[in-house]
Formats: sequence, structure tokens, C-alpha cells
Amino acid sequence: MPLILETIVTTLSPAGALHLVPFGLIQEGDDYVLAPFRPSPTIENLEASPYFAASSPRDIRVIAGAVTGRRDWPTEPCETIPGRRLADSFGHAEFEVAGVKEDAQRPRYRGRIRHRAAHAAFIGYNRAQAAVLEAAVLSTRLHMLEPAKILGEMTYLAIAIAKTAGPREREAWGWIEDKVAAALGPDARILGREDR
Ligand SMILES: Cc1cc2nc3c(=O)[nH]c(=O)nc-3n(C[C@H](O)[C@H](O)[C@H](O)COP(=O)(O)O)c2cc1C
Repeated sequence: MPLILETIVTTLSPAGALHLVPFGLIQEGDDYVLAPFRPSPTIENLEASPYFAASSPRDIRVIAGAVTGRRDWPTEPCETIPGRRLADSFGHAEFEVAGVKEDAQRPRYRGRIRHRAAHAAFIGYNRAQAAVLEAAVLSTRLHMLEPAKILGEMTYLAIAIAKTAGPREREAWGWIEDKVAAALGPDARILGREDR
């Protein structure tokens, strides 16, 4: 399996509207492949303008927020491509699409790096941030996975939240728990239950 980097991808619509969503970028040599499932505004944007930026957020709420209807995070203009990138990031890269592998379900856009930059020092990994990332991915697959699997994984991930989260990570976890509970019922809450 290739390396996959979880990032915040930003594209522009033909009307110039920013679209900000998390995507895993698949490493392929010096390039990174963006593979959105159809239907997808990201695909529509890339078809109109073959550029995207990928950012590594410092605040994990950006990833949890993007999959729970909170997509209004500060951005800045890109240096070398038409578009914008997440402002509060450890770093970002700007890509031009160098090739497309068409597919009825999941086309693959091969991104070639035009520019990359670091913006903040990375001091250390945090388990709660990793747990929020995993829970955010789970929350985009609620329609595909068995409820028991989702609950089992959320219960395990909640350990890292309870032990290592700061306020931002707790808030991000709460947003994901809200989404999971809306789909599976209030018993799906692990840390957010009023009786705990
Ligand atoms: C960490 C993370 C990685 C994701 N990676 C992908 C991906 O590679 N492909 C995909 O279609 N959706 C992925 N998703 C789900 C998308 O973010 C979500 O479905 C989003 O709405 C897709 O944007 P679009 O509507 O422009 O296609 C990921 C979600 C998270 C939280």
C-alpha cells in the first residue's frame, strides 16, 4: 500500500467560490494523487481549473469541522496557482493536475507539486488529534459500515481523547459524536453522554 497523507484540500469553483474538504493524498513517486468519490464538487472544480492546494491543519477542528458542516476557516492566497490554502497550517503544497485516470466511481487526479512551504514548527504528535482524524473518517462512512463496528472503533478512539485531548480536540470530538449520534442514536455517544 502507498503512503497516504491526510490533508485539507482547497479548490476553486468556476465562480471563484472556495471549496475546503479533507482528502487523503496518495503518494506516487514525487506526485500525490487526489481520488474523490463521485459525485463531488472537488471533481467539478478540478475539471474547470486543474489546480489544488493541500494543507496540514494545526487545529484538528478544521478536519472535524469540514465533515460536520463547518467549512468556514481562514485561508490565504496561493503563491503559484489560482486558489487559496488553509491559513493556520504546519505547511502546504500547491499542485497542478499532471494527469487524470478516469473512473466512473473514483477518478484519480495526479497532482504535481508547484510549490511547498512550511509555516509553523511541528513539536510533537498528539494521540487525541489522531483519534479525531480517525473518527472524522469513520463519520464519512456511516452509510457503509455496521453500527457495531463504528461504535467499537469510537469507544477505542475515545480513550485517547480522555487521556490526551486539549480543548480544541475535545470540541472536535464532540462535533463528530454529534454526527454519529444523529445517525445511530444517542447511545452512540461515548464521552458526550450526560450520565458520564
Ligand atoms: C481524513 C479524511 C480523508 C478523506 N479522504 C477522502 C478521499 O481520499 N476521497 C474521498 O472521496 N473522500 C475522502 N474523505 C471524505 C471527504 O472529505 C468528504 O466526503 C467530502 O465531502 C468530499 O468532498 P467533495 O464533496 O468535494 O468530494 C476523507 C475524509 C477525511 C476526514
